This record gives sequence, structure tokens and C-alpha cells, in this order.
Amino acid sequence: MKRTLGTCYYPEHWPEEMWAADARRMADAGLTWVRIGEFAWSRLEPSPGDLQFEWLDRAIDVLGQAGLKIVLGTPTATPPRWLVARHPGMLAVDAEGRPRGFGSRRHYCFSHEGYREECDRIVQLFSKRYGGNTHVAAWQTDNEYGCHDTTLSYSEAACEAFREWLKDRYGSIEALNRAWGNVFWSMEYGSFDEIDLPNLTVTEPNPSHALAFRRFSSDQVASFNRRQTDIIRTHSDAPIGHNFMGRITEFDHFKVGDDLDIATWDSYPLGFLEDRVGADEAHQRAFVRQGDPDFQAFHHDLYRSVGKGRWWVMEQQPGPVNWAPYNPAPLPGMMRLWAWEAFAHGAEAVCYFRWRQAPFAQEQMHAGMLRPDNADAPALLEARQVAEELQDTPDVFIAQSEIALIFDFDADFAWATQPHGAGLNYFQIVFDAYKALRKLGLSVDIIRAETRDFSDYKIILAPGLIYMPHDLKSALSEVDAHVVLGPRTAARTADMVIPVPLPPDMPGLDVTVSCVESVRPDMPMPLLGGGNFIGYREELEGSADIVLEMETGQPAAMRSGNLTYVGGVCDETAWTRLFKNLCADAGLPTMPLTGGVRCREAGDLRIWTNYGSEPADTPAGRIEAAGVLFEEL
Ligand code: GAL
Repeated sequence: MKRTLGTCYYPEHWPEEMWAADARRMADAGLTWVRIGEFAWSRLEPSPGDLQFEWLDRAIDVLGQAGLKIVLGTPTATPPRWLVARHPGMLAVDAEGRPRGFGSRRHYCFSHEGYREECDRIVQLFSKRYGGNTHVAAWQTDNEYGCHDTTLSYSEAACEAFREWLKDRYGSIEALNRAWGNVFWSMEYGSFDEIDLPNLTVTEPNPSHALAFRRFSSDQVASFNRRQTDIIRTHSDAPIGHNFMGRITEFDHFKVGDDLDIATWDSYPLGFLEDRVGADEAHQRAFVRQGDPDFQAFHHDLYRSVGKGRWWVMEQQPGPVNWAPYNPAPLPGMMRLWAWEAFAHGAEAVCYFRWRQAPFAQEQMHAGMLRPDNADAPALLEARQVAEELQDTPDVFIAQSEIALIFDFDADFAWATQPHGAGLNYFQIVFDAYKALRKLGLSVDIIRAETRDFSDYKIILAPGLIYMPHDLKSALSEVDAHVVLGPRTAARTADMVIPVPLPPDMPGLDVTVSCVESVRPDMPMPLLGGGNFIGYREELEGSADIVLEMETGQPAAMRSGNLTYVGGVCDETAWTRLFKNLCADAGLPTMPLTGGVRCREAGDLRIWTNYGSEPADTPAGRIEAAGVLFEEL
């Protein structure tokens, strides 16, 4: 497959006379794709029913004539002002009960039926008009579901829809009361209509209630998206994607992905480093102009899985952004490195956001491939270099890895509902495990918790799955691979209640978690021989072998056969010790990598990247700062 590049363009931001020259310049730089349309509602329908699509027809034509392929975005992330006036109840409402106002974007509630119908209407208009257009080669639904904290909405519309969702799930109010343990604190309901959303309660709401609301909210995102994909598919055969974000975990991306042909995501390595990697200050300083060496790779592997193998980077950082606490410029070479790293993980396309820096509005300080005065910006030059390199580099292909890491959004909902200790969160636990694997030079597949066929994996990691359905327990206990479980495996029922027998209650593993504790993160709990548990630890009972021990002599990890249970939140050293041991046992070679050097196997190639600001030596040779090295295998 030919890997390709692209950009994100807003023809409505620029005089029409500029379009043809822009299109020529994109094509000359070696770009294949241009995404347009996703925020243009106010220009397509300036007032109710006043449809003005002719300018978009011409823009598509001009771009298409230049040889570019178009990704057409539905404009539903930015409902115009008149639409909010028409449906005042459509605004999302925050946990404090305040409507989220007009004047930026994503101000809608996923549950508002009136807004959903408006979306049906505009998507219908889009797909009818452009479904047969040969230049429109792919679709994007909406833009970054969940971004700006928009998955959970505490609106009237959400409350009504939640009650319906609960009726479907529990059937009777007695069943719900029983499942949630509502006898506690006299929380019993007489009918579904009495159930409110779990905000504004005096102290914390029942965790069963809070988790149900998170699951409901996630389902609302999936059904909102499905309405769009269903409409588009009646008019077009072109693949449909959605651009997911980094570390947005409030809805189940796999479920949204089930209705898509391609998963795409928006990669802003420098913004993320400050904003959501969770790294300490020394790490942030070391990688300030490069980004975290593992955060992008993690999402590449995640979205490859969400897209069932087909995935893109829809927005690649092109220079300084505007939205992080600080907004440094990337080290020269990084915009090339990020693209190659994505290809090494199997991306079909990498599109830089955005074509030209806009001198107005919220993102006026966000770089583009062109400066506001139309001169080339560094991203254009680096993209051109990648386009040229793509011509003569052998194609990458992605084979199944030998290590699988389960990432489960539902587990994230449960940890968020009940972290049990300040700062404890599921994403960080999984990401720390991933980092430790990458630093051993290993390539990883991220898989969903619904997977039941684990054949050909040698190691399967399933940290932190608070709820584990019985058939997943059986499937994992029957594989030949090493399986790593814990902490909190199967610690709750589907309704967020402690199960008896006590967890993990895993066939083939004689381990019982008898007690758990959370402690301050600045009081690490040392393991004998190196590494710590941080913030959370479990007491383990049972006859399984002790494979890691606390300095206090208590068991930290136990194993029966190929099942290992880890009773705490590991730091990197603890994960590394465990993984080295398992890899040695499974016959998987490891390569300890330091600094910013990482690698990924991609078919006949191993692609090395150096996120460091100094050159470094690798087993395949020397690699420049911000450099990429291709090793033939
Ligand atoms: C993304 C978004 C784009 C743009 C960009 C700026 O999250 O999809 O529309 O806002 O960030 O970095």
C-alpha cells in the first residue's frame, strides 16, 4: 500500500481567488489528501433553510482538479448560533448544572433529539450532494467527539434518555434497586422516572449509578455517530472515519469504531506532553520540543485496533500550537519523525493540521504548513521531505505482534467512578506498562477486552480490568501465553459491587485479594530487588507462587502456571523486571533502550526514532537527534 500525506484546509477562511494556488501548492508538496468542511455550517446554512452549498461545490472542484483527494467532514461539531436559538435545550450542561455556552465549539448534548434531527438533516444534504462526487474519497463524521470535556452532559435531554437506557438495561425498578444496592442510605426508587443524573448530590453518588451514567454517555456518542454513518452509507461507498483525540477516555472508541471504516486521530505531541502525558517536570523539560517518546506510539497502536487495521493521523502537529500551558516549537526534524513513526505503526495517511495559519480567532497562534503571510513554514518543508522519502522506501506492513495489551474503556469508566486514591487512573497504569515494553524494544498490539481469540500471542497483559466478564476470564485462563492480571482484576461485578467469592476468582489461579489500600503517591512501597508500588497495593492470599515480594515480606505478585497476578500499581522498574522475566521465559529477545530512542517492527523493516535532542547509538547504527533510521531485517 502506498502511504500518503495530506492537510486540513478551510476554504471558507480564505478568498476564493487563493484556492487554486493553494491546491497547486499542496499537490506540488506531494500531498494526496485534503480534509475540508468540518466547521463550515454557518457558511453552508447562514439562516434556517437558506442553503448555500455552491461555494463548497467550487472548492471541492478546485481541489479535486489539482489532483487532491478530499476527506469531507460533516459540520456537526459547530452548530451555528441560530440553531442554538431554535433548540435552547441542545446545549451540553456541566456537572455543576451550567449550560455550556455558544462561542466556541462542541456545545451540543449528544442526547438532544432535536439536535440529532438537525444533524440528520445536514448530513443527509451533505451525503446526497457529494456522495457521488469522484473527488470525495473519504468522510469524517463530526470532529473529535469528547474533546473539551464534552462526553458527559447533565442536561434534561440526557436525563430523559438515561432513564430509557436504564429501563432497557434493568427491565424493572426492583431489579435496578437490587443491582445497585439502593437499600443503602434509603436510595430506593419507586420508578425509573424518579432517577436523576448523578450530579449535584450532597456527597458522592452511588458508584453503580455513576458508572451506569458513564456507560450510558458513552453509548450516546456511539449512537450519535451511527446516525451519521448510516446516512452517509446510503449515498456513498467512500470509507468513513472519525478523528479521535489523545487520552480522551470518556467514551468507548471501539464501539464508535465498529461503525467506521477507518479510525483516525489527532496527534499533537508537544501539546500532549504538557497537557496529558502525566510526566514529571524533568521529563517535560527533556522532551519539550519533541514530545513524549511513547505517547504517540501508544495511540497509534490503539487506533490501529479501533480501526480494525485501518487508521490515519488526521491532524499532525505542524509547529507550535495555541492551547497547551506552554507552546514551544518542535525541534527541526520532528515533523518528519512523527510522520515516519506513524507509518511505522501502520498509518495509511498522515495529514498536517492546518494548511495556513489563520490570523484570526481562537487558533491565530497555531502554526500551519504556511505562515499567515503565505510563506512556507517548516512543516511544509518537512512534509515535502517525507513525501519524497515515501517514493523510495519499501512499504511497511504490520504483522501481529507477540505481545498484546488489553485497553478497555469500560475499565477506565470504573476507575474514574471509584479511583480509591487521589490520582489513580486506569489510563496511566496501562500506559506505564506500554512504556516499559517499548523501552525493552518490543512491538505491541493493543487489543479490546471483547477479544476472545488470543492465538499467536506469547504475552497478554490485562492490567486494571475492574470488571471482567466470565467468558473473558475463561478465555484468558485457557491460553498458552503468559497472562498478566491485576491490580483490581474482576474487583467489581458488572454493576460495581464487590463480588463474593472475593476477586480475582480466576480459574487456575489460587490468589485472593483479601484487602486493598491506597496511600500517598510520594510514599512509594518498595519491592524486594527493585521497583515500587505507587499509590495502591493489595494483600494477596493463596497458594500460587510468589514472583515479586514487598520489602516487608508480603507477596507483591503471584503466579500459577502461566497466570501472573500483580497486586499493586507498578512503577516502571517494577514493570520492567516483570516483563524481562516473562520475555526470557517466552523466548522473546529484549533490547534495553534509553533516552528518546525507540523502535517498531514494520514488516521487513525496523524503524528507529530518536526523540532525544542529542544523537544516539542503536544496535542498528547511529541515529541523529530527531532522526529516523531504517533497519532492514
Ligand atoms: C484539534 C482540532 C482542530 C484544531 C486543533 C488545534 O483538537 O480537531 O480543529 O482545533 O486541535 O491543535
